[in-house]
Amino acid sequence: MQLKIVNVSAITNKTVLVRVDYNVPLNLSATQPTVKDVIVRVKDDRRIRDSLETIKFLLKNQAKVVLIAHLGRPKNPADTQFSLEPVAKHLSQLLHQPVQFVPKTVGVGAQKAVTEAPPGSVLLLENLRFHPEEKKNDPVFAKALAKLADVYVNEAFSASHRSHASIVGVTRYLPAYAGFALTREVSTLASLMEKPKKPFVVVLGGAKISDKVGAITYLSKLADIVLIGGAIANNFLKAEGFEIYRSFVEEASNVKASQPQDYTAIAGQLVDQYKTEKILKDGYIPLPKLIYPIDVVAAPSLETHSQNQVQAIDLSHDMADTDEKTQLLYLDIGPKTRKLFTEIITGAGTVFWNGPMGVWENELFAAGTRSVAKAIVNSEAKTVLGGGDTIAAAHYFHYEHKFDYVSVAGGAALEFLSGKMLPGLKPLVE
Ligand code: 3PG
Repeated sequence: MQLKIVNVSAITNKTVLVRVDYNVPLNLSATQPTVKDVIVRVKDDRRIRDSLETIKFLLKNQAKVVLIAHLGRPKNPADTQFSLEPVAKHLSQLLHQPVQFVPKTVGVGAQKAVTEAPPGSVLLLENLRFHPEEKKNDPVFAKALAKLADVYVNEAFSASHRSHASIVGVTRYLPAYAGFALTREVSTLASLMEKPKKPFVVVLGGAKISDKVGAITYLSKLADIVLIGGAIANNFLKAEGFEIYRSFVEEASNVKASQPQDYTAIAGQLVDQYKTEKILKDGYIPLPKLIYPIDVVAAPSLETHSQNQVQAIDLSHDMADTDEKTQLLYLDIGPKTRKLFTEIITGAGTVFWNGPMGVWENELFAAGTRSVAKAIVNSEAKTVLGGGDTIAAAHYFHYEHKFDYVSVAGGAALEFLSGKMLPGLKPLVE
């Protein structure tokens, strides 16, 4: 995919509207931030740091930078906990220059602030989602945003799966370009789909299969092996007739949806579809392409803190039901699965990982996620990590910095890896 990348001739001396994704976790303990608390308030600033290269490039070329972003899912504009003001302060510290926070998003107040700011200044407008028109991709709202500037830059890959006014609508009224971080994200994820070094191993986990079903389906076609852990593995285990007792499983999409999906049935179909694609691996009988756990770590509760209550269950041998077992939740992949996953990852040419293998926040169920992270960073493979929970886990185990690429996009990356053209990228394609 060839994107129109932001360049000197497009932006020099211009007012540039930059859509960033500053949907970052905040520490909400202080409701009235002062400059002093700002570092405390933005808990994770990866997304803010990702936008710096584009902002600095614009400033170097005498542009006026007008940043627009959303934060959370506010129901009401008076809900000040969703204000972007603390983010403006944090950004100003990272940029080492003032960032003017504008408490309006469109209209006279916003226009006045933009007009009066000199070239080389940075403004951050208030949360786009204080206006319901943003999510509706309302053309009047999109036009009002466009009126603020001469050029538009999308630097929000992680929000580009949304057909919102600031992502899609505005591009009807302004020349649109891709920011540097967005371009890097697209080329890294596209390289997984187009020319991954083989064997291409995909590791998927996490809790909700609804977010991942498109990516599992599409990546299963492209990958040599797909390793499945986390609660999404429960759909596969269930589909294959294994007992999962009280384990979390997301069975079906929202019943109100026009076409409800049965995720366990989809998991079963995928297993069937790839049953005949076997991979030869030294020391093992031929392996299927889609591999779900052969053993699990189980306990009666996520909050268990006693090793005595935790047990490993070998799924193919340990089939007898007991009263005690009916109370169990599967909370991590087991030791045999860890060993198998580690060996497969060790021989990979490319690894994409999204989703923890278990409830890693509890040390009793952290071994699966830790061993997968360790195997990936110790491999010779090109390694790509994606998704907020997975980044948090890799960070906790001190492996985050060892990945070749860390994608800050969650839903957008998964949609992109489902083979879909994201609505926000379409206007940026050459
Ligand atoms: C994200 O955090 O994934 C993006 O900012 C999109 O946010 P949304 O899911 O609220 O649209």
